[in-house]
Amino acid sequence: MTDERDHGQTPATQGSRIDAYVDRYAARATGMVASEIRALFAVASRPEVVSLAGGMPYVTALPLDMVGELVSDLVTRRGPVALQYGSGQGDPHLREQICEVMRMEGIHAGANDVVVTVGSQQALDLITRIFIDPGDVVLAEGPSYVGALGTFAAYQAKVVHVAMDEQGIVPESLAQTIYALETAGAPIKFLYTIPTFQNPAGVTLNLARRQQVLDICQRAGVLIVEDNPYGLLGFDGEPMRALRADNPDGVVYLGSFSKTLAPGFRVGWALAPHAVRDKLVLAMESAVLSHSSFTQLAVGQYLATQPWQEQIKTFRELYRERRDALLEALVALMPPEVTWTRPGGGFFVWATLPEGLDSKAILPRAVAERVAFVPGTGFFSDGSGARQMRLSYCYPEPDRIREGVRRLSGVIEQEIQLRDTFGTGSTRGHAGVDTPGPDLA
Ligand SMILES: Cc1ncc(COP(=O)(O)O)c(C=O)c1O
Repeated sequence: MTDERDHGQTPATQGSRIDAYVDRYAARATGMVASEIRALFAVASRPEVVSLAGGMPYVTALPLDMVGELVSDLVTRRGPVALQYGSGQGDPHLREQICEVMRMEGIHAGANDVVVTVGSQQALDLITRIFIDPGDVVLAEGPSYVGALGTFAAYQAKVVHVAMDEQGIVPESLAQTIYALETAGAPIKFLYTIPTFQNPAGVTLNLARRQQVLDICQRAGVLIVEDNPYGLLGFDGEPMRALRADNPDGVVYLGSFSKTLAPGFRVGWALAPHAVRDKLVLAMESAVLSHSSFTQLAVGQYLATQPWQEQIKTFRELYRERRDALLEALVALMPPEVTWTRPGGGFFVWATLPEGLDSKAILPRAVAERVAFVPGTGFFSDGSGARQMRLSYCYPEPDRIREGVRRLSGVIEQEIQLRDTFGTGSTRGHAGVDTPGPDLA
């Protein structure tokens, strides 16, 4: 018998690895499984690997001294409020400021209809919690945001994907899907959509389609959940008009300071019709009592005293330069059979491999060549996406992005040669869930 105390060490894992409670979990927990590719991503976070996988904002571009002073000043001057419980709906002054931010996308709303949440991820959780019974249908673009798909799975929703192209959701596909589900008697609880600079596809719903999507959903009585964390990170022109701007009663809008300030504050929000808002506040209170007063006041102080629109401009310019580096490298280096989207903002490019290639099977080889991406299957709930991959340009510097594309192109070229010789490229051993961790979402 070994006794770790003899060596003054604590064992990394204690007790049995067998799960004694395996038959006790709620049915909803069966959908909560770690990705089989998580271990690969752990390797991918090593400095020698160029990660085109992560969706982390480049917070180093913030004036960190200013943030430090702001936080310290907050504790000194307003400590008794900042360190106290707050209300379930969120700080009233911050909710006013959030309304000002949303005006940039054409939304005119009252602070009373805003609920501050722990990132927009919690807003997603609360919306799903109040609307979804097991088996209920949620419509979502195919592909869609992994964090939302994970939440929908946790509440046992059935996700039905709606087709999307370079201009966003295809309205005809939306109408047909709604019709087919209605005819089959399947209740649709809401359409979840990321209309602007979509994660993972990078595409934006064009203006004409925005109206069509609103009309189709209104006619069918389908609530829209508009998730918009990237809307202010456009590279050209003015921000797009939000769907919520044209239908206050038919849209729940989700926003976040994660990409325009920093995700570490964990401040997001939901703007909802009155009755939905009331349910969200109750759900929020049962989940966490109240959001952190401290981070809400810190974000409020930042918006009140700092040139936040200038900071967003800085982020936009930085991400535009990285987007350009990625697109130029793809054009210069990728085999001609590979195609990809051209985002006008946000963090992501969605690439499609030629027939016979499988992005998840290629990932181990890519990581061995010191480049990482997220395979496409994680962004669908129906196993689609095998030939696709998400490439993000938000975090690595432009030279690293170019080097990453050079490595990836080499791997894909070899895969094409394999396919041409043997009829297929690398293949996967077994299917599985691909949900990456939060830093990759
Ligand atoms: C589309 C989308 N929605 C929601 C979130 C969650 O963001 P947060 O909880 O940090 O606000 C993310 C994060 O990457 C995202 O890409």
